[in-house]
Amino acid sequence: MIKVKVPATTANMGPGFDSLGMALSRYSEFEGEIAENIKIRISGLESEKLKGNKNLVIDSMNYLFEKVGKRPKGYNLHIKNNIPLARGMGSSAAAIIGGLKLANALIDFPLNDDQLLELATDIEGHPDNVAPALFGNIILSTKSNNEIIYRKIAPFEALECVLFSPDYEVSTSNSRNVLPKSYSLQDAVYNSSHLALLIYGFITNDTILIGKAMNDKIHEPYRKKLINSFDEFKKIALDSGAFAFSLSGSGSTIIAYCTKDHSKNVLSSFEKLANEKNISGKAEILMPCKKGAQYE
Ligand code: HSE
Repeated sequence: MIKVKVPATTANMGPGFDSLGMALSRYSEFEGEIAENIKIRISGLESEKLKGNKNLVIDSMNYLFEKVGKRPKGYNLHIKNNIPLARGMGSSAAAIIGGLKLANALIDFPLNDDQLLELATDIEGHPDNVAPALFGNIILSTKSNNEIIYRKIAPFEALECVLFSPDYEVSTSNSRNVLPKSYSLQDAVYNSSHLALLIYGFITNDTILIGKAMNDKIHEPYRKKLINSFDEFKKIALDSGAFAFSLSGSGSTIIAYCTKDHSKNVLSSFEKLANEKNISGKAEILMPCKKGAQYE
């Protein structure tokens, strides 16, 4: 039996639209073994929504088998989901990476991780969630001249994240549809300069700089209308001691970046606000994780 454990991820992180993401300490698991036929079992969080739907794990496995030109006769697959779906916490990226790592193992590892990242980016359309799901850490990535270029930044030890995931979903395709087709020169300069300073802040562990640089004009101003009380969550996070705040991926989750000494305070502020506003959902503290997808 082959087992793969894949972390959740947060993407964009403010100005890093489609290019910046970080792995978080919540994991889905994927198990597989060669068999005569194909049998699929799905369990865990929101698994009823995954049953009977188009399955991204299987699509990703098939994509790899076709690319390599080799496939097993059949397999038993068990998906144990533990990442909320369509909430901006990388559930699709985990499914893609889980499927690719499993498929690669079932046919004796023809591809290396960089090749898996290329396939994962083809499937997802952008590398910002799939890269940290595969490699852990904070990953800065882009596709340029048909090559995925990426670099890792180790998150600093004191970093903790407080997330609030509302029970309502925001699909990535809907939240991409609310974005403009073009941007002004000022907005482009605003984002590229903020992203550059944000990366400098993460490399030098400068929380004040990270807080100042985590501002965006490409997606958050348009998407926050889809998020109940986005501005209030941001204000309460910063007032409660977080040093930065952003939409997680395309939402609906929002994420506050804290040092360990402030995360519990931010967590209880999120719970209090959600309660006052009658927004059902889950607040939780997650750690950045340095390991990406792992065979167990
Ligand atoms: N970068 C992507 C977006 C992440 O913001 O649309 C969600 O898949």
